[in-house]
Amino acid sequence: MRILGIESSCDETAIAIVSGNGEVLVIEKSLVASQAALHAKYGGVVPEVAAREHIDAIFPLLIAAGIPRDGSGINAIAVTSGPGLVPALRVGVELAKTLAWAWGKPLVGVNHLEGHLYSTFKAIEFPALALLVSGGHTEIVLMKDHGVYERVGATRDDAAGEAFDKVAKLLGLGYPGGPAVSKMAESGDPTAIAFPRPMMESGDFDFSFSGLKTAVAVRRRENPDDRVEDVCASFQAAVVDVLVAKTMRAAEKFEPKCLILAGGVSANRALRDRLLRDFSPVGRFLVPDLALTGDNAAMIAAAGYYHALRTDFCDPLTLVADPNMEIV
Ligand code: KG4
Ligand code: ZN
Repeated sequence: MRILGIESSCDETAIAIVSGNGEVLVIEKSLVASQAALHAKYGGVVPEVAAREHIDAIFPLLIAAGIPRDGSGINAIAVTSGPGLVPALRVGVELAKTLAWAWGKPLVGVNHLEGHLYSTFKAIEFPALALLVSGGHTEIVLMKDHGVYERVGATRDDAAGEAFDKVAKLLGLGYPGGPAVSKMAESGDPTAIAFPRPMMESGDFDFSFSGLKTAVAVRRRENPDDRVEDVCASFQAAVVDVLVAKTMRAAEKFEPKCLILAGGVSANRALRDRLLRDFSPVGRFLVPDLALTGDNAAMIAAAGYYHALRTDFCDPLTLVADPNMEIV
């Protein structure tokens, strides 16, 4: 089965073709047009600007993917229908609906977060536990089967990626902040500043990162001579400590066969290394290739493939973008 994937929920326009056979999924094409440089000057993603860029980029990507004009060879279309920015989401959703209607192909509306869960392109054994860390979400999800999820923990305020972005902003490192902060952290001392580990002992699997961002701001004001590298390394160590501790505690409780790390923050080397070290004695650790940690359409097609196997399709005349779509 060959799936056309379409993604436009935030600031990446993406088109992919993924073929699936049982549990083996192969990426035939994965094209991404990033707008990150454009939004950098605003310090964040501007929804209307993003939508306009998606409109300009999406059709050329579809052509570049080499899909026949009549859609032959494609068995189903999967599109991110939420969560995300409505004007941005609608570009992909409307293209997917139009193609599904014109070609007479089945359509799947995919939750963007579910897409990230499938971004490792490795066979998932159930139950699986997933740490989903992106710019908008930080969640621990128990996957009982394909499409059967339970959210066991989540952030109560800022997402982990958002904390990286805000800390980068206050340190003058630009947007998006994650890559900039983690690069600086490489030459810093993670023990230089003892930032708080929020909710470490809360006894649940929830997170809170907004106080940590404030702690960095206060520290910066009171100690302007701290090396930026040390601030970044110490902040990153605090985020990684909390994410890893809560994930490992969830793993003790739910005894998963594998652990998935996904979402934009899964590009973070320190986080990848720590989870690999701590979880490997327990089970398989699955992490996406660096090229698939950020938003892409291959992961949307992969998630869509499992919906298609269950004939879980939606109506091209009624599918709507849902900015607040939940994974469970
Ligand atoms: O999944 P994603 O591409 O978009 C959303 O769905 O939100 O995640 C983007 C987030 C941004 O907050 C970005 O700063 C963060 O992922 N990020 C990182 C790293 N690379 C990207 N955070 C920490 N370390 C990184 N190396
Ligand atoms: Zn994402």
